[in-house]
Amino acid sequence: MSINVPRGTKDLLPGETEKWQAVEELIRDTCRLFQYKEIRTPIFEHTELFTRSVGDTTDIVQKEMYTFTDRGDRSLTLRPEGTAPVVRSFVENKLFGLANQPVKLYYTGPMFRYERQQAGRYRQFVQFGVEAIGSKDPSIDAEVMALAMTVYQKAGIKKIKLVINSLGDTDSRQAHRVALSAHFSPHIQEFCSDCQNRLEKNPLRILDCKVDRENPLMATAPKLPDYLNEESAAYFGKVKHYLDILNIKYEVDPNLVRGLDYYNHTAFEIMSEGEGFGAITTLAGGGRYNGLVEDLGGPESPGIGFGMSIERLLLALEAEGQSFENLPTLDVYVVAMGEAAKDKAVSFVSQLRQNNVSAEMDYLDRKVKAQMKSADRLNAKFSVVIGDNELESGIISLKYLANGNQQQLTFEEIVANFTEIASKATEESA
Ligand code: HAM
Repeated sequence: MSINVPRGTKDLLPGETEKWQAVEELIRDTCRLFQYKEIRTPIFEHTELFTRSVGDTTDIVQKEMYTFTDRGDRSLTLRPEGTAPVVRSFVENKLFGLANQPVKLYYTGPMFRYERQQAGRYRQFVQFGVEAIGSKDPSIDAEVMALAMTVYQKAGIKKIKLVINSLGDTDSRQAHRVALSAHFSPHIQEFCSDCQNRLEKNPLRILDCKVDRENPLMATAPKLPDYLNEESAAYFGKVKHYLDILNIKYEVDPNLVRGLDYYNHTAFEIMSEGEGFGAITTLAGGGRYNGLVEDLGGPESPGIGFGMSIERLLLALEAEGQSFENLPTLDVYVVAMGEAAKDKAVSFVSQLRQNNVSAEMDYLDRKVKAQMKSADRLNAKFSVVIGDNELESGIISLKYLANGNQQQLTFEEIVANFTEIASKATEESA
């Protein structure tokens, strides 16, 4: 019996991986522009890190974590998200002591959540995220949102919207919490057992319950913005002000609460508006987490960040009928006729590669016709055919496959001047 990939995971095969590399490159370039530096943390962490930060009443902690006991009897968890590990590392490595604050970090890597699989939702997915830790300047909230929007824009995704809200500071949240409890408690029997537990521990979580979403009490629940104190409202006003300066459009959604406990003040999501994107339209989510560094044992260091799934970015791109230009291609396919030509092909391909020209040849002793077919299938830009005549004269015919034009050149000329030859051929065929 054959063995398949576990549910909720998938293989990325050639054809697909080139797109991933293009996205990863775009992410690295954008982070360089915005001056965010890469951090890499372990794939698994102590379970307690997530229960303490993401929150033990959240869906992630209650239902979705891949938690296991290792041979040393420690409870470990495959990371379901990136913020808690980055903050743990920030504290552990004393990054709060660095001269340059805030510390601006980014990461890309697999995250794990035991969720029901559907289009855009996986049990292993790759998140690109950034965290700016050590500043409560509202302009950095706007910068973080701008960075996320820039990545989508550079990828060619147009049909997206930025949705923002403010969750307020601890006092505002406390006032809202009391109002929520009062609103739901007379009718809590109508809600699922999870919500009944949430009422006591964290009534805000009732608002993102997937089971009771349609209950009319959800729509009439007390809205966070009505409970923001003056300071929180002023902070939110400034975040919007900086978004305006950056010319970034947004919608305010008072119902946006986010599914993780560490948030306060700014919360945001970026949604796809592309037709045919499917049921899940959230491309990215993030927000501010003042207090999380202290909760994990560090000094006061307010932070903000976001996470986005690369899978969903690629789905959005597809839904909009966009594709990546400039995916890496094959420059030259070398066809060889006979043993002596094969020797030359082996060395010519190697010389091309040493000069940064991508090159490929036949490894199955196929006839010339079949080799030519390979060149087409591999989408080569050029092909050359090496036979006895070419070996003798040292001159070969370099064929531009888009239009069939041929040039007679020596092997050395092709190796030395390939970039110029290629750009001239592209210009002429345009
Ligand atoms: P989150 O909203 O849980 O936030 O996830 C962020 C993004 O990760 C989602 O918008 C989505 O793109 C992707 N994602 C989540 N679950 C899945 C899944 N099962 N399959 C595919 N993609 C998924 C966080 O994780 C926070 N750490 C974000 C953050 C960073 N907040 C501040 N800094």
